[in-house]
Amino acid sequence: MVKYLNSIPTKHAKLVKWVEEWAEICRPEGVYWCDGSKEEYDRLCNELVESKLAIRLNPEKRPNSLLFRSDPSDVARVEARTYIASKTQEEAGPTNNWIDPVELKKTMLDLYKNCMTGRIMYVIPFSMGPVGSKIAKIGVEITDSAYVVINMHVMTRVGTKVLEVLGDDGEFVESMHSVGKPLAPGESDNGIWPCAPMEKKYIAHFPETRQIWSFGSGYGGNALLGKKCLALRIASVQARDEGWMAEHMLILKLTNPKGEVKYVTGAFPSACGKTNLAMLIPTIPGWKVETVGDDIAWMKFGEDGRLYAINPEAGFFGVAPGTSNKSNPNAMASCAKDTIFTNVALTDDGDVWWEGIGYDAPDHLIDWKGKDWKPGQTDAEGKPVKAAHPNARFTARASNCPAIASNWEDPAGVPISAFLFGGRRPSTLPLVYQSKNWEHGVFIGATVGSEVTAAALDVKAGTVRRDPFAMLPFCGYNMGDYFAHWLETGKKSSADKLPKIFCVNWFRKNADGKFMWPGFGDNSRVLKWIFERCDNAGEYVDTAIGLMPTPEAIDRTGIEDEVSDEDIKELLTVDKEGWLKELEMIKEHFAKFGSHLPKELEAQLKGLEERLSK
Ligand code: GTP
Ligand code: SPV
Ligand code: MN
Repeated sequence: MVKYLNSIPTKHAKLVKWVEEWAEICRPEGVYWCDGSKEEYDRLCNELVESKLAIRLNPEKRPNSLLFRSDPSDVARVEARTYIASKTQEEAGPTNNWIDPVELKKTMLDLYKNCMTGRIMYVIPFSMGPVGSKIAKIGVEITDSAYVVINMHVMTRVGTKVLEVLGDDGEFVESMHSVGKPLAPGESDNGIWPCAPMEKKYIAHFPETRQIWSFGSGYGGNALLGKKCLALRIASVQARDEGWMAEHMLILKLTNPKGEVKYVTGAFPSACGKTNLAMLIPTIPGWKVETVGDDIAWMKFGEDGRLYAINPEAGFFGVAPGTSNKSNPNAMASCAKDTIFTNVALTDDGDVWWEGIGYDAPDHLIDWKGKDWKPGQTDAEGKPVKAAHPNARFTARASNCPAIASNWEDPAGVPISAFLFGGRRPSTLPLVYQSKNWEHGVFIGATVGSEVTAAALDVKAGTVRRDPFAMLPFCGYNMGDYFAHWLETGKKSSADKLPKIFCVNWFRKNADGKFMWPGFGDNSRVLKWIFERCDNAGEYVDTAIGLMPTPEAIDRTGIEDEVSDEDIKELLTVDKEGWLKELEMIKEHFAKFGSHLPKELEAQLKGLEERLSK
């Protein structure tokens, strides 16, 4: 018998049955339907503090904010445990892990059996996108984690209003989650982050039936199922079928000194600067950047033939380390209150600290593992011990961001003028260049490479890997077919209406290993050239790799000392030797896709090779 802790707030028979079936399998103490209210949020926060899973921060320093420390094994997405279980392996493609869906469901059902004993099963109706918007999608997440519930409150629109839109028979994405740590009678978490060992973690997607089954992890993208699982992996499949786009992109509103506005999106791999670019404060006078979204964009064509983007999320799950009042004041303001911190360090006066916060650590901290920490502390091998985990994050409300655009929730979306692609490339890739046309732009997106960051657990940090369109971990189907979908999209409108496509790289390093470009607010100087190019202005040279600004076309007023004439020349040349090596890496990358690689991309590769050999 399923025990309900509150009354069932919907007459949606399929939804009620779905919840009941899972309750029969997982055997929670009781089932609770979330209403999305502030009262519910506050109550769950208090319960989490009582169970010692959360620490309430000093309200004078960080009002209404909590700190969580995860299990050291549960600090990031786990790509090796993430599956696209389509009917055939070919549909999942060469870049996704695949298991036969029937087999995977059998394995996971065994794991789900009695997995919630001693816990509450929360039912979270949520909307990705403004509630009721035509572009929005509804999901319902079942979870046994109150941490997930409060994060979903911030990151999505939760509760009764969503059920109203869903009605008695509306469509929703079934999003099933458990931390995979049942409690024995009388047992409580007692301050220990619940999760399952690595070999029992599964982040599974069933694209044909639009289902998500997640087991064993409580962390971010593994557990907040509206984000990567629904808004990217499942949505990318829906987007292919329905003719729209679901992308791992920031969305920003750029205003020039004349008050003219353009919207720009950017796809950079995880921890490669989307949040920072979306919130940047320009260092060039008269320019303004406002935030529409920092991680995900859903785009559809308007009747005018332009692509319109919405941000399906309601908050930011941002990287804490490196975020300071110098690098990103708007992110600092966003997490000044009402914030859930995960795996940052705790100060003695009840505030947070992380590497790169912009001021020295105090003499004593509690690090992300809950241990005493002192500045300069080293491990057994003599390496510095980090106080915050490199993938420590803050969950903050978009409405707390001073730079949030007034129209960020416009259900019609914002018209996009430019797409940026980029990653962390210490060499070869110039500061910025523009694609020659849409197909060439798709080639640039399909060949994005980046040094691996700490955002995923099981890939080797520091090495360059191909991360096409920054979607490698997030595409719910065969990546070759996804390239084809991009090419198709370009045929649906004319070149003057489609976004112009650019490649950017803020991460070039010199021989001493220092960044050659100051980045952050100074990236506005590159945005300025991009803005000009969208109006077919801005000086450029047509090179083998694309349209590159002349050194003078990048406004360096005020940073001539930091970025010398030689530096900017180096940042804007075609490094022929480097590109010849790049060609080989691209060939290897393309070879993986076999017959699914669109001919147009092969032709682009050949074209680049010919141009470079001239
Ligand atoms: P996800 O949330 O993982 O998708 O990441 P993201 O793309 O939003 O990355 P984010 O903006 O949080 O940046 C991650 C790290 O890159 C932070 O430590 C930043 O300080 C650093 N970073 C961002 N922009 C720049 C830049 O222009 N130059 C340099 N050198 N570092 C940057
Ligand atoms: C990313 O890794 O790209 C993120 C963080 O945005 S997570 O939601 O954990 O995937
Ligand atoms: Mn991301």
